Amino acid sequence: MAIATKVCFHLGARLGTAGFVYLIIIALLSLMDSFVTSAVFSITAVGCLAFFFTQPIFTFRVGELRDLAALIAFLTTSLIITTLVRRVRWLGKAAREQARLLDLSHDTVFVRDMNAVITYWNHGAEELYGWKKAEALGKTSHQLLQTRFPVSLDDTMNTLLTTGRWEGELIHTTRDGSQVVVLSRWSLQRSANGRPISALETNNDITLRKRAEDALRRNQAAYLAEAQKLSLTGSFGWDPASGEIFWSEQSFRIFGYDLDVTPTVELTLQRVYSDDVALFRQVIDKATSGEQEFDCEYRLLMPDKSIKHLHVVAHVVTDEPGKRRFVGAIMDVTAAKLAAQKLHEAQTELARVTRVTTLGELSASIAHEVSQPLAAIVTNGEACLRWLGHPSPELAEVQNCVTRMIGEGRRASDIVHHIRTLAKKDFLQKTRLDLNDVIHDVVGLTQREVLSHKVSLCLRLASELPPLLGDRVQLQQVIINLMMNGIQSMDGIHGRPRDLLIESYMDQGGNLVVAVQDSGPGIDPENADRLFDAFFTTKPNGLGMGLSICQSIVEAHGGRMSAASRPGHGATFQFGLPAIIERSDDARAQSEFQGVAQSCSAIGAPQHLDHIRTALSAFDSGA
Ligand SMILES: Nc1ncnc2c1ncn2[C@@H]1O[C@H](COP(=O)(O)OP(=O)(O)OP(=O)(O)O)[C@@H](O)[C@H]1O
Ligand SMILES: [Mg+2]
Repeated sequence: MAIATKVCFHLGARLGTAGFVYLIIIALLSLMDSFVTSAVFSITAVGCLAFFFTQPIFTFRVGELRDLAALIAFLTTSLIITTLVRRVRWLGKAAREQARLLDLSHDTVFVRDMNAVITYWNHGAEELYGWKKAEALGKTSHQLLQTRFPVSLDDTMNTLLTTGRWEGELIHTTRDGSQVVVLSRWSLQRSANGRPISALETNNDITLRKRAEDALRRNQAAYLAEAQKLSLTGSFGWDPASGEIFWSEQSFRIFGYDLDVTPTVELTLQRVYSDDVALFRQVIDKATSGEQEFDCEYRLLMPDKSIKHLHVVAHVVTDEPGKRRFVGAIMDVTAAKLAAQKLHEAQTELARVTRVTTLGELSASIAHEVSQPLAAIVTNGEACLRWLGHPSPELAEVQNCVTRMIGEGRRASDIVHHIRTLAKKDFLQKTRLDLNDVIHDVVGLTQREVLSHKVSLCLRLASELPPLLGDRVQLQQVIINLMMNGIQSMDGIHGRPRDLLIESYMDQGGNLVVAVQDSGPGIDPENADRLFDAFFTTKPNGLGMGLSICQSIVEAHGGRMSAASRPGHGATFQFGLPAIIERSDDARAQSEFQGVAQSCSAIGAPQHLDHIRTALSAFDSGA
């Protein structure tokens, strides 16, 4: 300062020049971060200026007002310069500190201006991408890193400008040409007046995690595909609004389409078996118009003319607001269906064989029991002829023979009657039953027949019917026989509906009635009287025992069977059974006990007819 003062004084510098020199020195001192020094220097400088450069010189007195104003201006300016320089230095230091901290981060951090030119590049960025700070600064970030965006750059920038942030996965190419997947977070920086000036981009390398996830997904997908292949179950997604469909590999396999085909409802429809198209459309329509789930079975006709049976279940998922999407499974149940069909056929065949065998046994037993009276009738008949062949016929002997023949005939008839009695009553297990429950049981059991014969079944069941006392299985047998007859009678019907109606009601006499009505050809008036006869049949494979057994069972329950028909308009077979008249609980229990006791009492039949009874019971249950 002394040097500056000396030089200025000897050169005869004026107040302004000397003040300017002092200001430069003050600025330099401030840059050296010495506020106290600058302040002391400023005050000393004011003293020097007053002493050496204002009139009168060599005194601290300031003669002129103008000089005093200049000195005050000098002091103010020097203080402002000192403060400003300090502030700038402090800001610079803070920025350096921030940059140092960012360099410590493991994430890559860089800043780019609104033209994507890189203005900051941290150590993490150098490590990940391979370019040094000096190389990266000034370059356009998206070009340098060959950024691949999940959506367009314009959309990404729009989000950044409107929300101030953006986050997503990017693919960058590093200096050595390898690709890295980064989880990128952008933050917009604005100037004091709100103008966007730069974006801070923080990137986290997730390449390894992505690879592991992809590998896991691939594994899971492979396991899933294998499991779907093994279980013959495909999966699908369907958006009813857009018609967009996703099929798993197994679904493509089930429908028999190549994997590069785009699945559509129409494409599926092309495979649906003609008889099931209406059902399929109905399911699609319901699902489109708001149904939340569906569960249906339909068949496919494959190009090689084979039939596939599918069971499809799906429900709505709403993972995106306002969007309805079905997710479901397509199960190829052909093998199970064929197995069930085979089992059913085998059971039917077994039942037939059992009936025929049992019938054989029954015939043999009946023959055995009836052969004795028949032999006696023949013997007496022959004797009768001999007596009549005498020149003078012995009429008294003839009368004896004929009387014995009648007796033996009656005995045979009694045996037959006894067999019928056994057939009617034996082994009835009577319990308290709800008639409608029995009908529902049967509907479940005959579902397959109803479907396979394309019959539309209708139930019209009276509610709150009183209970009855009966053998559930035997009554089921009766209704099954009637339904089967009705279904079989409609086999020849084409071009008009095959309707089967089952009604239950209470008639005026207080009997519970079940009526089975079909829309078949009706009963031929010629056969009307023989319908309930054993062995009467008009069917090539029929035994003619169904109605006869039904009648026996109904009569054993104290009921009655009847048939009505208008030829050409179907037949109605019905039976009525007495209802239980409600009494107190104790009385009811006793009555049920008696019912069972009574039903079992017929077991006390003659010993020699035991095997017939066994054959009959087997025959009934096989019928
Ligand atoms: N719903 C019906 N419509 C027209 N005819 C019928 C009907 N039900 C029975 N019939 C006639 O009565 C006959 C006797 O029936 P039934 O059930 O006793 O024996 P089936 O059906 O011929 O043989 P199966 O012993 O195998 O039942 C039948 O062959 C048929 O001619
Ligand atoms: Mg029958």
